[in-house]
Amino acid sequence: MKIGAPKEVTPGENRVAITPESAGHLQKLGHEVAVEKGAGLAAGFTDEAYKAAGVEVIATPAALYKVADVVAKVRPPTETEVKRLRKGQTLISFFYPGSNEDLMNLARDRGATVIAMDMVPRISRAQKMDALSSMANIAGYRAVIEAANNFGRFLTGQVTAAGKVPPAKVLVVGAGVAGLAAIGTATSLGAITYAFDVRPEVAEQIESMGAEFVFLEFEDSELPDGAETGGYAPPSSPEFQAKQLEKFRELAPEMDIVITTALIPNRDAPILWTKDMVEAMKPGSVVVDLAAERGGNCELTVRDDKIVTDNGVTIVGYTDFPSRMATQSSNLYGNNVRHMMADLTPAGDGAVVHDMEDDVIRGATIAHSGEVTWPPPPPKVQAIAAKPKEKVVIPTPEEQRAAEVAAFQAETKRQAILLAVGGALVLLAGLFTPASFMQHFIVFMLACFVGFQVIWGVAHSLHTPLMAVTNAISSIIILGALLQIGSGSFLVTLLAALAVFMAGINIFGGFLVTRRMLAMFQKS
Ligand code: NAI
Repeated sequence: MKIGAPKEVTPGENRVAITPESAGHLQKLGHEVAVEKGAGLAAGFTDEAYKAAGVEVIATPAALYKVADVVAKVRPPTETEVKRLRKGQTLISFFYPGSNEDLMNLARDRGATVIAMDMVPRISRAQKMDALSSMANIAGYRAVIEAANNFGRFLTGQVTAAGKVPPAKVLVVGAGVAGLAAIGTATSLGAITYAFDVRPEVAEQIESMGAEFVFLEFEDSELPDGAETGGYAPPSSPEFQAKQLEKFRELAPEMDIVITTALIPNRDAPILWTKDMVEAMKPGSVVVDLAAERGGNCELTVRDDKIVTDNGVTIVGYTDFPSRMATQSSNLYGNNVRHMMADLTPAGDGAVVHDMEDDVIRGATIAHSGEVTWPPPPPKVQAIAAKPKEKVVIPTPEEQRAAEVAAFQAETKRQAILLAVGGALVLLAGLFTPASFMQHFIVFMLACFVGFQVIWGVAHSLHTPLMAVTNAISSIIILGALLQIGSGSFLVTLLAALAVFMAGINIFGGFLVTRRMLAMFQKS
């Protein structure tokens, strides 16, 4: 099969669907690759680079559509582009079928198969084809860079000879792919980062990235669970929304940068950063609204534009962040496309098999064999979402008592067996050894028992548990040695003195070493 990537026609779109590197992988799958002349130029890939990778460079888009069996694009196609499709031809591109039904129907009428990269289900196996995530990751990163560019201060705190700079405070609303990328970037630039999401299961991820999760006081059972919604958040209740806005209103005056990424697919973006919140922000603060494409999370966002409010807050509503990093995003998108092709070419022999039983292919296919196949049925494999928390069962007082009695009985039984075995062993030893040995042996055993109880009973409130135990052992040694040191025998006195000396080294040396270790953690 021949896979071709035309030059993107949307003004300002710099990305390309096939890079020289991804072309190499497609060729390994047994496909031929073609691109339109100049298709990759804006992303930094020259025609020469494509030719060097064995890619055919075709002069016009019409010619490219004619020779390609599979057309790979980034932006949703225009009407002209869909009209170029023919029966049996496959188009792979972002499509947003919910808002492009006419074009979808047109593609069906042309008999073409359309694979919408934005419809790839969020299941583990499909992660390498998840172009929404790979682009959102770039958008999240770029949002922080854009915010920093518009912010008049450092993001990190500094103490310099010229003065003290406090760290910037960043709030990320929506901790999906874009939000998590923004959190990672903001924390690595040294900002104090806060994040909020309606899915409480992301709290751990947020905290593991060094940000603070903004908690709302809400019953767990009232919170949405993303598992049944294809890994996305379901809409939240009006009470929850009111609580959320109240919290944001409280945070607004403190925040220097707000990055909003909250979105539920196929819905307009919820307004979460209202006009009064913007007015409450300090002059010089920045809001970057990643949801601008669907109306924006900020009430004042102007799509594809940057505005500065009367109180000096900059609001960025660009919708082309991935295109602003076209080389990176083309590389990642190119990889997503070639993984999709790998799924469509199971034998790796250049033959495309459109398996509608495959969860990923079925989910992403919106037109096939003269029919519209959107919306797809839910994937057979459950989406990636956190396991619901296991409920902790609190036992009733009766159950607790029964458990305690059972534990006591088990412990008593164990001790009785130990005692019986120990007694039998001592009796056995008594049968074969002289009486004097048995006398010493029993004293020795009792001493071990008492010593053990004394040592393990030492409270380690002043030292570490290890120090407490070794000091207790050394103390018992010193006590025993002091009792023996006055003995008439020179050898016993010498041994006792040596024992005192060595146990003393253990105790005092232990303290010395501990002091040195503690000093390592103390500021001078
Ligand atoms: P995602 O679905 O992974 O994340 C969205 C997050 O928002 C989810 O975690 C969801 O739980 C959360 N959310 C939904 N409603 C919320 C609410 N009311 N309050 C708080 N959190 C809420 O989406 P992803 O991939 O991270 O994309 C985020 C946004 O970035 C989308 O709007 C997407 O269109 C946009 N985007 C923008 C680009 C640009 O250039 N401006 C480029 C790529 C993505």
